[in-house]
Amino acid sequence: MDDQRIESHPILQFEKSAVLSFTFDGQPMQGREGDTVASALFANGVQVFGRHFKTKRARGFYCAIGNCSSCLMVVNGKSNVRTCTTYLEEGMVVETQEDRGNLLRKRQVGQALDVSKGASDDV
Ligand code: FES
Repeated sequence: MDDQRIESHPILQFEKSAVLSFTFDGQPMQGREGDTVASALFANGVQVFGRHFKTKRARGFYCAIGNCSSCLMVVNGKSNVRTCTTYLEEGMVVETQEDRGNLLRKRQVGQALDVSKGASDDV
C-alpha cells in the first residue's frame, strides 16, 4: 500500500483499524475500516478519480462531503456513486466512470427501444 496517511501528529491520535482489501480498475489495494472509498483511494496515491464527460479534464477529491459530484465512480457495478460519502467495504470493486455512467446509457438504449415500438420519446 502506497500509504499517504498521516501516521503521527503532535495533538491528534489515530487508531489503527482493520485492513480492508478492494480493487481499483483491477489493481488490488487496501484501505482501513472507517475509510470512505475516496479516502482509501487517496491513501493509495490515487488523485484522479475520473474525467469530465465533455472536457476530459481530470476530476478528483473536491468537496469531500457529497455536494459536488467530482468523485463519481462505479462501485460494485453501480454508476454515479459519490465515493467521498461511501464507506469502504471488504472486496469492493471500484472503477473509474466513463462519461455520465451506465444509467444514462441504459436510458438511451431504453429510449431507442421505445421509439422503435412507436412510443413517445418524452422522458
Ligand atoms: S468530492 Fe464532492 S461529492 Fe465527492
